[in-house]
Formats: sequence, C-alpha cells, structure tokens
Amino acid sequence: MPELADDPITLRNPADVREVVANYRPHTQEEVAQACERGAVAARRWGARQGPDRGAVLHQAAVLLEHRVEELARRITLEEGKILSDAAAEVRRAVAVLRFHAGEAERLGGEITDAAQASTLTWTRKRPLGVVGLITPWNFPIAIPAWKLAPAIASGNAVVVKPSSQAPGAVLGLAETLHEAGVPPDVLQVVIGGAQAAETIADHEQIRAVSFTGSNVVGQALSRRLSARGVRFQGELGGNNPLVVLADADVQGAAELACEGAFLAAGQKCTATRRVIVEKPVYGPLLEAMNERAGRMVVGNGLEQGVEVPPLISSRAVSEVLGAVEQATQLGARIISGGSRAEADLIHGNFVAPTLLTDVSAGMKVVDEEVFGPVCAIVPAADDVEAVRLANSVPYGLSASVCTTDLGRAFRFIECSDAGMVHVNRATPGADPHMPFGGLKASSASGYREQGHAGVRFFTEEQTVSVHWEVAEG
Ligand code: UN1
Repeated sequence: MPELADDPITLRNPADVREVVANYRPHTQEEVAQACERGAVAARRWGARQGPDRGAVLHQAAVLLEHRVEELARRITLEEGKILSDAAAEVRRAVAVLRFHAGEAERLGGEITDAAQASTLTWTRKRPLGVVGLITPWNFPIAIPAWKLAPAIASGNAVVVKPSSQAPGAVLGLAETLHEAGVPPDVLQVVIGGAQAAETIADHEQIRAVSFTGSNVVGQALSRRLSARGVRFQGELGGNNPLVVLADADVQGAAELACEGAFLAAGQKCTATRRVIVEKPVYGPLLEAMNERAGRMVVGNGLEQGVEVPPLISSRAVSEVLGAVEQATQLGARIISGGSRAEADLIHGNFVAPTLLTDVSAGMKVVDEEVFGPVCAIVPAADDVEAVRLANSVPYGLSASVCTTDLGRAFRFIECSDAGMVHVNRATPGADPHMPFGGLKASSASGYREQGHAGVRFFTEEQTVSVHWEVAEG
C-alpha cells in the first residue's frame, strides 16, 4: 500500500451525523501514480499465470469473504446508511460475483475454426490489458467494486481501485480478503481520494482501461479525457427508470413493486424506479395503493429492525433531492406524499420521506435527470403504446419494467423498450450476478457490459493465431 498523506477524510453516520464512524487518509497524487506503476509491473506476472490458477485464488477469496458478511455489512451500514439486511445481501452478492469469475478464469477460451489453408490451425486467445483503473461509487460499496475487479483479476490484469471517499471501508475489507486469498498486493491496490485521485489514475500512462460507475456528467468528462488518448472506457452512468403498469396488471402487486423500486435504499440505486407510468383505467387505484404503501414505509436507522427506508448519504444529497422536488412543484407538480425531511425524531440524520409526485413534465429535474433519492413521479398514459413512448422519452435507458398479466403486451414492451435491462412483473432494480448488467443511450458511455460472461470482454484483448505445419511425406 502506498504511504498516506495528511488531511483525513472524516465520515459521519448518515443516520446520525453527530457520530464520526471512520477517518481515512487520502493518498497523494504521487502515491496514486506509484500505485499505477507498480500495478503495471505486477500485471505481467499475474497475467502470465494460468487462468485456473487465478481462478483458485478468487474461489478462496469467495470462501473467506463469506465469513466476513456480518462484519462488512455493519461497516457498510455505518458509512453508507443502507439497512443492515441489504448490506449483508450486498456482501453475499460480492461473494457470488467472486465465485462466478473464479469459474470464468477457467473458461477464458477463444474461438477455433477450420483454417482456410490446409495443415493449419487457427484460433483466438484472450490477453489481459495490463493495469486498469476502477472508479466506484458509494451506493453499492462492495458489489460494484467486486463486479469490476473480479473479471479484471480473473483475466490476468492488475487493478488500481478508487472507491468513493464517502464509503471506502467495504473495498478495503474486500481487498484484505483477496490479498489473504493469494492475490499479490500490487495486483490489487486501493487508493483513497476524490476527483483528483480519479484524474491521476485516468491520466496515468500505464493505465490501459478505466471502468467507472457514477453520474452522467462525471462519466462523460472521463470518457472524453480517456478517448483523447485512446484508453478504453466503460461507464455505467445512471438512469431515470420507468415502471409501466398496464390496465390488466395486479394493481396491489404493482404498487408494491413500484414502492420497492422507488424507495428501498432511499432510491439511491441507478436502477431505482423514478417514474411509474400507468394506463388510465388503473391510474386512480394505483396512485391510491402507492400512496398508502409509501405512507406506511418505515424510515429510520439502517441498524434498526423493521426499517425500510434508510437515510441519504449526506446532507448535501438531502438538499439536492428536496431542491429537485421544489423545482418540480414550482413548475406545476403536485406532492401526493412526502416532499420533505422525515419526522422530528430523525432530525440528526439525512432522512427524506418517501415522496410521490404527480403532474410532472419535461423541464423538471425529476423527469430529465437522475434525482438520487426517494422520489417517484406517477404519470398517466392513454394506452400501452403511449406508455412505452413515455417510458422511452428520457435520455437515459438503464432499466425498465412492465407489470401486466398479458403475455403479448409484455413481449411488445420488451421489444419496444429502449432500456439495457427489461423486467416483467419485477421491480426495476436488481440484477443476477451472472447476467450482463448495463444500459443503453445516456446510461452507458460504451457498449461494454459488466458481470456475466460479458464481464471479461472489457478487460481483455483478442489475438488471432494461425499455425501451419508441413507433413513429412512417406
Ligand atoms: C441493482 O440494481 O441491484 O449504481 C444494482 C447502481 C447500479 C447498481 C444497481 N450500478 O445503482
């Protein structure tokens, strides 16, 4: 690990900001650059090892991480705020990701075909890139780093990970576990810092690729910065995800899914449901059912049993989210529930009540942008054709969902949706750890997918080999 600089980063508990939960010392620019240098050297040896050998190390890391679920979940809840059971589920998701990519390391095959010339064999093989940079967000502080670093390491790269400085504890724990399992220290290095550390990684001449999850603005800037130098970039850049409820749907079930998608984790998921688009005949009943469910949702400290909606990451996030709600109301939106900070006994935390809005329109941040909090707009649609048009009407295209009991309408939605991930009778968040994850349109700054078989593509390059031999006569 590089030496640490001064000026500690002080983290406060999002559920009660009077409590300091951790202090971290950021790395200097020089130390970040040194980490990139060391990674480039370490990548050569790691990449030269056999895939199954790297896979065995990742498998062992999965076994060790499984023993740390409770400890790391608690660390996540204290730093980031999410409810303890969600944090534990997230650590287990990281375990599943490590396991999947342990297997992928054994399956790093290529393509083999009949060669055009006789006595010749031709095939492709995958090569690691070298040292890569991973820039990860605070909202899934262990799952996202795991699903970036596992395919990178499995396919023979070294990684320099910069977790969000708002919740880096889980990545430090994950790295300890991987090192203990046998990943060499310089193959996986964690650097602590903010935008400057990210830029130092992106600008470093040894860095062959950067994978980033975060806001559209930051991702686009990073993409431009890297493309100028021809460095590969993968960007998961958020969403404004629709859940469509058609008139034939189970309305109570749809309201439950919509509230789950909109308000769990306080809406701090790029896959959260931001807009519920409802076919007119069930608009009234759906609105009522969502209002009733939102009003019953328990807001509170993620360490407490029964809590459903945790705090936001920071007081700045609270101001941004409530600012967007206010802007919407000024432009004509109506607040059905929430719209303010949560109750008086939660004043020391960053709590926002689950908020439902109607009468939204283009020009409002809640429609045009990604407002990262428990805010959801309900929008009527004349029929399923208008519903899908509204669903696709924003620049983003990450996740979309339709609630219906009609198979034909479900398939029409799947075909017409401009989202990278489409769900039927499921909430918009959530993704199987072995399936590709990623968006279309402004939700992705590249066509590369994360997770699943697709995960290693970003971290490898292909080489075509042809071998010809002479057959001795007689
Ligand atoms: C999920 O839907 O469970 O930053 C994961 C995010 C996404 C991950 C969502 N990249 O919220």
